[in-house]
Amino acid sequence: MSKETLTITDNRTGQTYEIPVNNDTIQAIDLRQIKVSEGDFGMMSYDPAYSNTASCKSTITFIDGDKGILLYRGYPIEQLAKRSNYLEVAYLLLYGELPSKSKYDKWVHDITHHTFIHENIKKFMDGFRYDAHPMGMLLGTVGALSTFYPEAKEIFDTRLREIQLHRLIAKLPTIAAFSYRRTVGQPYVYPDNDLSYTGNFLNMMFKMTELKYKPDPVIEKAIDVLFMLHADHEQNCSTSAMRSVGSSLPDPFSATAAAIAALYGPLHGGANEAVLNMLQQIESKDKIPEYIKRAKEGEFRLMGFGHRVYKSYDPRAKIVKQIAHEVFEVTGKNPLLDIALELERIVLEDEYFVKRKLYPNVDFYSGLIYQSMGLPTSMFTVLFAIARTAGWLAQWKEMLQDEERKISRPRQIYVGPEKRDYIPIDERA
Ligand code: ACO
Repeated sequence: MSKETLTITDNRTGQTYEIPVNNDTIQAIDLRQIKVSEGDFGMMSYDPAYSNTASCKSTITFIDGDKGILLYRGYPIEQLAKRSNYLEVAYLLLYGELPSKSKYDKWVHDITHHTFIHENIKKFMDGFRYDAHPMGMLLGTVGALSTFYPEAKEIFDTRLREIQLHRLIAKLPTIAAFSYRRTVGQPYVYPDNDLSYTGNFLNMMFKMTELKYKPDPVIEKAIDVLFMLHADHEQNCSTSAMRSVGSSLPDPFSATAAAIAALYGPLHGGANEAVLNMLQQIESKDKIPEYIKRAKEGEFRLMGFGHRVYKSYDPRAKIVKQIAHEVFEVTGKNPLLDIALELERIVLEDEYFVKRKLYPNVDFYSGLIYQSMGLPTSMFTVLFAIARTAGWLAQWKEMLQDEERKISRPRQIYVGPEKRDYIPIDERA
């Protein structure tokens, strides 16, 4: 019978070690016993971007990157996108099961109950410079929420923790929409709790003089599906930031602000904004081959292609492509769509991209949809942040309940100068 262990022979000493294997994984700390001499610190593993290191055990999201599979708590993303809605998915991520009717109704009520923000937050937001990026405003304002709810520090009090989860999921769209209204110099619109989560978000974004805002059902549904697709994605950069910062046990507003900061970068949530800029730069279909050539020469990367985990078509990208067509029926076709479709077609046939398994990711088409809905590019990542909040919080909660939890503290391989003596400034060369 095979043994669930790994035998390692250290050729420096000739010594052999037997290390337990669980879930096809060894514990890095088991390597520490491998030493050349008694005083030796012991062996470590080196994995700069954690590309082959599991940082936690999780029951939330499963991804098979080779087969293009994404499951939330076991449910395929395709089924959820078709039959569920964002708030139900948020519940599923946070509590592990789909809610009963009564639990769902209570959940929706609890979220709706927390959509308003303190009037001082509005004043606080007024202090941002006139041209502040909405993502920067979101990041700053979410961090500042911790000062409005000091009890949020009680992260091991189950009831108080629940309230902060409700507040974050409920208030993110309000803060996001206020950031947008501030950017365009329009008055803030208060939440309308008769509307759905996404319907209300559209209301706060776009309501003008009408007495009651009526969201277009196709647009409302499209945003809801996009929110579901973006709700969680296991240990990505922003979720790792949430867990890493959360591991020092701050309140969830501070940890979420850190996750928002991580999401801001163009290699993560900023990618759909970058995709749109790229498509605008390409300008016309005939310029695509030249652009691809430059990307292959390493001048830049094709935005919206490639993924650390997916080495086949991102399952979310397939759904987004479908939504794009539905939205364009209402809004009219985005003129950049033809360039995007042609770019995708060429890339999928090009040896460079095929060999490296670079397929369109979720961000490739989402920017086109948002633009057609009249959203400025600076809001794209903000929408991603609203959606991902459920995932960040589910992962944060799981981390707090994990018996193996410790403050996040990676090791390093020191390659700097050896110990040397300080030289006074006038004696330096
Ligand atoms: N365009 C051109 N070449 C690429 C691209 C790209 N978009 N992505 C990867 N490559 C190439 C790299 O140059 C490298 O080539 P090499 O082996 O000849 O050196 C090879 O493919 C592997 O690249 P890595 O950087 O090792 O891949 P990694 O898994 O670290 O990167 C990432 C993943 C960051 C997403 C990358 O593909 C990328 O930069 N894509 C563009 C930005 C983007 O769309 N980000 C959104 C990701 S999805 C999300 O966050 C929701």
